[in-house]
Amino acid sequence: MAEKLLEVRDLRVWFPARTGLLAALRGVKRWVKAVDGVSFDVKRGEVVCLVGESGSGKTTTARAVLRLIEPTGGEVLFDGVDVLSLPKAELKRWRTEAQLIFQDPYESIDPRMVVYDVVAEPLRVNRLAEGADDEYDRVARALEDVRLVPPEDFMSRFPHELSGGQRQRVAIARALILRPRFLVADEPVSMLDASIRTQILTLMEDLRREYGLTYLYITHDLAQARYTGDRIVVMYLGRIMEVGPTEEVIRDPLHPYTKVLLSHVPVPDPREARRREKIEIPGETPNPIDLPPGCRFWPRCPFAREECREREPELVEVSPGRFVACHLAGG
Ligand SMILES: Nc1ncnc2c1ncn2[C@@H]1O[C@H](COP(=O)(O)OP(=O)(O)OP(=O)(O)O)[C@@H](O)[C@H]1O
Ligand code: SF4
Ligand SMILES: [Mg+2]
Repeated sequence: MAEKLLEVRDLRVWFPARTGLLAALRGVKRWVKAVDGVSFDVKRGEVVCLVGESGSGKTTTARAVLRLIEPTGGEVLFDGVDVLSLPKAELKRWRTEAQLIFQDPYESIDPRMVVYDVVAEPLRVNRLAEGADDEYDRVARALEDVRLVPPEDFMSRFPHELSGGQRQRVAIARALILRPRFLVADEPVSMLDASIRTQILTLMEDLRREYGLTYLYITHDLAQARYTGDRIVVMYLGRIMEVGPTEEVIRDPLHPYTKVLLSHVPVPDPREARRREKIEIPGETPNPIDLPPGCRFWPRCPFAREECREREPELVEVSPGRFVACHLAGG
């Protein structure tokens, strides 16, 4: 069995940009390069965190990997299968193996349906239940899995009769009922109170162990990534800036952008806090339509030098398992 469950190679998702009338008349076509040449992998049983500021292309990457949007180019291999060329019928079957958990549970939960129907729906759509009893047993089991117990107390409730944390548990139960191998969680706790966040993250970790799941976990919050992930993939403006084991990246970030992100994370240890002065970066995230040439981060990078404006750095392995896209790292 191959070690890698997911391999993403040179993934690109470009959206046509709205151009002005003059540009349209001249036939100028411009693109929002939301994801622009992204490569990473996720090993079996691993949790990989995709981190980056708003607009860096995290959600677009996730949706393209699950083929909820069609990428402009690149390759996605799941257990060696080329997901982007799967015909419709096989894609439907594959989708039972790879599920998405959203930031807002209402994106996957119909507010007019009771919990039982919300959780049973994927079974019905995929015709996977062997009769009503089997369906009931599976729904009950999925609710128990997410610790909504006893399940009978929750089955006939409407989503608005649940707390935010309980709603996210229902969304997870709905994803789990198909017994997937791979879960993509897109900011699954960012709408919840801090105390509930920890409960949901602990639940996800328990489920990962129980069912041997593999996660791609998306967050803009490096503190959460530290708590959640085995490895971190840092994105900026549609490109990967740094990849590495979570603890190593957090202890010793190599990319200037990761350093900036980390300098804004509150740290509990005052000695560490002293070492990590807050780095302010000038300017705003540029528009992914008119990207500057060279390194995408140069207009905001405190370490930028001449070649950064001219040549885009490749993501290179600078030490075992540590990848960085910066002219200053690893030469
Ligand atoms: N359907 C679309 N059409 C045009 N542009 C899009 C579309 N979807 C996303 N974008 C643009 O692509 C870029 C990346 O968006 P994306 O939602 O992937 O970022 P993100 O990292 O998930 O941000 P956030 O942390 O805010 O969720 C943004 O500039 C966004 O405006
Ligand atoms: S390549 Fe240059 S501009 Fe880009 S992050 Fe490295 S030092 Fe900064
Ligand atoms: Mg997003």
